Amino acid sequence: MLKSQVLELERIREDFPILKRKVKGKRLVYLDNAATTQKPRKVIDALVDYYERYNANAHRSLHTLGIEATEEFERSRRGAAEFIHASPREIVFTRGTTESINLVRFAWAEEHVKKGDTILLTLMEHHSNIVPWQLAARRKGAVLKFIELDSQGRLKLDEIEEEIERSPRIVAVTQCSNVLGTINDVARICRRAGKAGALSVVDAAQSVPHMPVSVDEMGCDFLAFSGHKMLGPTGIGVLYGRRALLVEMPPFQGGGEMIREVHLDGAKWNDVPYKFEAGTADIAGAIGLQAAIEYLSEIGMDKVRRHDVELLKYAIDVLKGVKGLQLYGPDRAEERSGVVSFNLADVHPHDLATILDGEGVEIRSGHHCAQPLMEWLRVSATSRASFHVYNSYDDIDALKAGLEKAREVFGL
Ligand SMILES: Cc1ncc(COP(=O)(O)O)c(C=O)c1O
Repeated sequence: MLKSQVLELERIREDFPILKRKVKGKRLVYLDNAATTQKPRKVIDALVDYYERYNANAHRSLHTLGIEATEEFERSRRGAAEFIHASPREIVFTRGTTESINLVRFAWAEEHVKKGDTILLTLMEHHSNIVPWQLAARRKGAVLKFIELDSQGRLKLDEIEEEIERSPRIVAVTQCSNVLGTINDVARICRRAGKAGALSVVDAAQSVPHMPVSVDEMGCDFLAFSGHKMLGPTGIGVLYGRRALLVEMPPFQGGGEMIREVHLDGAKWNDVPYKFEAGTADIAGAIGLQAAIEYLSEIGMDKVRRHDVELLKYAIDVLKGVKGLQLYGPDRAEERSGVVSFNLADVHPHDLATILDGEGVEIRSGHHCAQPLMEWLRVSATSRASFHVYNSYDDIDALKAGLEKAREVFGL
């Protein structure tokens, strides 16, 4: 196995039980990490430990189990805060990036977006950072504007800055494209947005799992990410919100825990962040997320990023050698996160994914919940390989071998 210059790959791979399984009799080569990542033993154990030892509701019961569950749940909030350089009071637990963005749509945009306002997005957004704003715009009579990309799929920064000068109400942008891998200079965008009086919302679903992220340095108003894309469980995510905004916002959903008191004629809201966490939270999910954050922090997010860049460079090089393969996104690995999208001649990505699956290589095919971007690329779908800490050069070699096999099958 070609060794990573950055990570102790063999030791890391031992931590992921699923990597021992076979697919169609072949070694599992999991390259669908942008959709969801695999989970290390530490995360699985944290979930089992909660259910076996101290399962109870959080913030309710005063018995031993209830206190332990509450302490661990809140430790997870502190862990998530520290991971992105925020304060725990600014961390709202949600189901994931999608729910986090919808929370901003309902609790902020509902109050603040007015008829004729502009909501500024980019052509590379995931549907979860488009559709909530389409719904808000339709309800409020606002207008959506999409910033164009250059020929390598990078944001046209001049254009976004010009548009921000026109004082949009909201600027909602992804930090990393889940298709092109493009990394956007969100700090610069948020700074400009703040100066122009616009709210900045950052979709960090593909960045927080792959690189150091500091909301403090970025200066965003809101930032959203999902646990399951960063080695954590499904069903848990985070919305970071600037405290002053969270304090003045009305609740998102009504129910238990989000209130201070309820009477027949009304209710008073709990403090932030609890005001936004109605009902029983995904306590196990939050505890699992904390284990994932500890796991990633032990490796070091700088190293996670360097490993991604190393694999990207290799992948771009190797895939350029496959005849008939069209690669999308920036040429330079340093400008992108660990995602490579491509098409092989006119083979449908679903057919390609099926052939690769026969070789044990799991990639994603389809529109990747980014149909406006597919339209801009003038394709209906792409194939996508995406990496995380357990992927190796061998995995990319297996991908290349699978692609060569597909060329044979399709007579290319
Ligand atoms: C860039 C981006 N934003 C948002 C999402 C939505 O995340 P979730 O389905 O976890 O809410 C994804 C998931 O693929 C994504 O890649």
